[in-house]
Amino acid sequence: MKNYIIIPTYKEAENLKDLLPLLVKYNVIVVDDHSLDGTDRICRKYKNVRLITRKDKRGLSSAVLDGILSIKDRDAKIVVMDADFQHDPAKIPEFLEKLKKFDVVYGHREEAQMSLSRNIISKVASVLAKSMINGIKDIKDPMSGYFAFKKSSIDIEKIKPIGYKIMLDVMASMKEGGKIGEVNFKFGDRKNGKSKLTNRVMLDFILQLMELNNFRFLKFALVGLSGIVVNEFFAFVFHTFLPLYLVFIASAEISILSNFILNHKITFESRVSIRQALPRYNLIALVGLVINVSTALYLSIFVYYLLANLIGIIIAFVFNYILSEKYAWKSYEND
Ligand code: GDD
Ligand code: MN
Repeated sequence: MKNYIIIPTYKEAENLKDLLPLLVKYNVIVVDDHSLDGTDRICRKYKNVRLITRKDKRGLSSAVLDGILSIKDRDAKIVVMDADFQHDPAKIPEFLEKLKKFDVVYGHREEAQMSLSRNIISKVASVLAKSMINGIKDIKDPMSGYFAFKKSSIDIEKIKPIGYKIMLDVMASMKEGGKIGEVNFKFGDRKNGKSKLTNRVMLDFILQLMELNNFRFLKFALVGLSGIVVNEFFAFVFHTFLPLYLVFIASAEISILSNFILNHKITFESRVSIRQALPRYNLIALVGLVINVSTALYLSIFVYYLLANLIGIIIAFVFNYILSEKYAWKSYEND
């Protein structure tokens, strides 16, 4: 039996009672964070179930990773699922079947099954994830927690889990040329108990994204702030001898150049030549400026002008960042 199911659990005894009888055909690994709700008693009833109990609660991703690391079988096919029946166990054979052709298979949640707020959070998170992590741009549901992979297709040592999005870690550490497949499923309601997805968990997720992104997003933001200082300084200097419209144009262009140099050296660590990056970045920054100003002008009809300006800055910043990453400093590994 090379098929393994990993189930991370925290206070899921009630659900395990119903779920484990459906999984007797597989090697099941339950990774529990010391729930003290009878999880161990239920697991002991099944010969095919191995329970890993961790004494301190360390989160969903690290639980799944501990499960993966406990599997010695090199040819293992591994399905990761939640205990609460939001992940339909009837789909497991389909995941395993797809692993014959693909290296990682993710469950694509059909959207109608989620509440509106959940849907929005999920959409925002997936746009962020897609813009920050290379190689996942065609994935329809990067936030899914139901997925499967061949152990031999990933570099396990590369995984540094934080937060709860272990699938992103697994995809980010897939070996060269790996193929990603998909299974559709209905994201149902939790059967018993409550969700563990708290604010703290969401914060961890943002940290995880930043880390997978090598903190380029943050560096880009800091460089942007330094650009404001440069811009103001040169506006102050030029003001003594240039007409105002030239003051703004010249100081803006100088700050674009200083941002470019810093981003080239620090944020993108010179991953392409200056000849490619400079004209592209300059263009992006100018378009960004137009976006900033026109958004601010438009929104100022409805809201306080400083708020309008702030929203304009944020939208232009995200635009600048994504295009810098995907176009100006586009490197081979980007696709
Ligand atoms: N060991 C361990 N430690 N298990 C945990 C922990 C933890 O800290 N936190 C949660 N779990 C287990 C739960 O017991 C459950 O089996 C599974 O992880 C999912 O937790 P839920 O609390 O049900 O999460 P959710 O339904 O809000 O989120 C699920 O759906 C999301 C998609 O909307 C998860 O699958 C997410 O990964 C997924 O992104
Ligand atoms: Mn759930």
